[in-house]
Amino acid sequence: MDSSSQAGAVYFDPYQPEISTDPYPVFRRLREEAPLYYNQEHDFYAVSRFEDVERGLQDRETFISGKGAILEIIKAEAEFPPGVLIFTDPPVHTMYRQLLQRMFTPKRMLSLESKVREACVRSLDPLVGSGRFDIIEQFGGQMPMHIIGSLLGIPEQDHQKVRERVDSVMRTEVGQKMDAGDTAYIGEGFEDYIEWRAKNPADDVMTELLTTEFKDETGTMRKLDRDEVLTLVNVLAGAGNETTNRFIGWMAKVLAEHPEQRRQIAENRALIPAAVEEILRFEPPAPHMSRYVARDVVVHGQTVPKGSAMMFLVGAANRDERRFENGETFNIHRPARSHLSFGYGIHTCVGAVLARLEGRTALDEFLKRFPEWDVDLETAVLSPTSTVRGWETLPVVVR
Ligand code: HEM
Repeated sequence: MDSSSQAGAVYFDPYQPEISTDPYPVFRRLREEAPLYYNQEHDFYAVSRFEDVERGLQDRETFISGKGAILEIIKAEAEFPPGVLIFTDPPVHTMYRQLLQRMFTPKRMLSLESKVREACVRSLDPLVGSGRFDIIEQFGGQMPMHIIGSLLGIPEQDHQKVRERVDSVMRTEVGQKMDAGDTAYIGEGFEDYIEWRAKNPADDVMTELLTTEFKDETGTMRKLDRDEVLTLVNVLAGAGNETTNRFIGWMAKVLAEHPEQRRQIAENRALIPAAVEEILRFEPPAPHMSRYVARDVVVHGQTVPKGSAMMFLVGAANRDERRFENGETFNIHRPARSHLSFGYGIHTCVGAVLARLEGRTALDEFLKRFPEWDVDLETAVLSPTSTVRGWETLPVVVR
């Protein structure tokens, strides 16, 4: 019996390390054998086919985020401070979202290219000639934090501290759930700095968050209060860091395992955007998100009752053969079709343009210095978080 079976029936448990190490055989069985899956032990439902995940993430009347978008948070019935937009529904979500979209425009994100490149060079140059390094510690853990930190206006000396705090909140012990009480971290840490920034405005997102006037959900024109700014800064710092860091780890692993495609990219950099999309599809850093079911809904002929938790298995949907031919195969030349790695619907990733820019630049600069490499999976450590899946340590051995 493999880890996907219990008495023959497919079994999926997001907290079981044997499954999360390689969830794809279980995901395949879920798509085929249990397109609506119910896990009794942890009391949640899950959908895994592309069409079901896409439709569900779009149905914001039925599947709401206001009680959390992570299974254990929904289950814990946790309370959040205002500003955690990922855990809000319209009209409050719309208000925060519009505000952020004014700041995270594609134009502004793309104007960061030279900064992103500089940050890549700064991390990668010292590694040349070393023969072996941990790509997470030396690269993934540095560049994205540097970029989101400077965009937000977090002082450079604090970047590392912020990253450690976000990591420690996201991190769970192997096989354990995230502690829903940990969401209390949001909002701590920058009080003094924000006060100072309010008096000393600069060209950064923190200043804009402090000064922009907007119409709130009650129709009142106002500015964000300090608590909301604190929360949004922390949410952005967290969302903009851990996921891209995980992407960089997957980039190294997947391309090491597909040397022929890596060689093609190294020889033809025009393949980089397609390669980034394919890595995101193949190994999504956020492989599932969850929603609270706000009203009874019929899925595959079965009623999912109001009050349930529903998991949307992006990692499974992204390999659904109904959507992607030979979905289990990594192929940078596949016809472009959108995946779900940045989510779908009203909560679609605010930072997708920036994340893609970082991904493309990271791959380009990495290949310039290291056209060929292996990864040492014997000593690599897969991060045990139940929210974001990726490498915590991934030694790269340069040939
Ligand atoms: C490869 C990197 C990234 C991946 C895979 C990723 C993935 C995601 C996903 C799947 C969601 C939707 C969550 C849900 O529906 O519950 C999301 C939302 C979000 N992401 Fe990203 N993200 C990445 C990078 C970034 C960056 C760089 C930023 C920073 C600007 C960012 C900021 C956000 C924010 C603020 C939200 C919440 C949006 C909302 O609730 O309306 N992300 N991201």
